[in-house]
Amino acid sequence: MPEPQDPILTLASFRPALRALVWGASGGIGGAFVAALEANPRVAAVMAASRKAAAPWCFDLDDERSIEAVAQAAGADGPVDLVLVATGVLLPNPEKSWRQLDSAVLSRVYAINAIGPALIAKHTLGLLRRDTKSVFACISARVGSIEDNRLGGWHAYRASKAALNMLVRNLAIELRQRNPQALCVALHPGTVDTGLSRPFQSAVDPRKLQTPAESARRMLSTLDALKPADAGKLWAYDGSPIPF
Ligand SMILES: NC(=O)c1ccc[n+]([C@@H]2O[C@H](COP(=O)([O-])OP(=O)(O)OC[C@H]3O[C@@H](n4cnc5c(N)ncnc54)[C@H](OP(=O)(O)O)[C@@H]3O)[C@@H](O)[C@H]2O)c1
Repeated sequence: MPEPQDPILTLASFRPALRALVWGASGGIGGAFVAALEANPRVAAVMAASRKAAAPWCFDLDDERSIEAVAQAAGADGPVDLVLVATGVLLPNPEKSWRQLDSAVLSRVYAINAIGPALIAKHTLGLLRRDTKSVFACISARVGSIEDNRLGGWHAYRASKAALNMLVRNLAIELRQRNPQALCVALHPGTVDTGLSRPFQSAVDPRKLQTPAESARRMLSTLDALKPADAGKLWAYDGSPIPF
């Protein structure tokens, strides 16, 4: 029997002709966000930013000025309804033991997975639309949940995503005071067939491996369903909450 189809992505909770800014558009999930948004009739503009993009959409997380320049370009034509941060890194051979902890690896993974999104937030939260719902969402990961951690390992990646989750909670509290219709949330995409997960897919049940398109569409549907009270939390692609 065929799998039931996911409902059509309406994005009806957002203003029509919405403007979306995707960071990490060259990645598996970021590219799928761009494709899903470009195909949606309610979306007027998709600004696809990445290291590989042409100006004015080219940025590197190691260079705050490049982040600021992309944000300025995005805000030049008015408020932004949806900001999606789909950047991230999982370096090869993630730690299985404390004996493998390495200062350079920890610094790099924190820089990309926690500090980079924090700087993107610094330059884009103020661009979010104020008169109707708007969303700033970072792709985190279930393995960043402290409550959910039963297996251990992957110290740098898990800890960087836990740090990102805390930043999202903090930013959501501040954002609620400044812009009550705007939400700041973290998302878990599931296990998705991208370059990042490929080295680890042999341990994954193939039925649980999603295409980037499936994951992106489900995450966008999840964002569409969220209300202001749902801000500051980690949401899975299927709309279920994951404890921090
Ligand atoms: N795939 C999964 O199963 C899975 C599961 C849980 C969470 N996630 C999270 O989902 C997010 C997206 O991952 P993905 O699976 O789509 O991986 P991916 O295909 O490897 O994409 C990663 C993206 O991050 C960008 N990036 C890395 N370093 C950067 C830097 N210094 N400056 C600017 N951009 C940089 C990459 O840009 P370049 O193309 O220039 O390298 C690429 O666009 C990550 O946060 C990841 O942790 C993924």
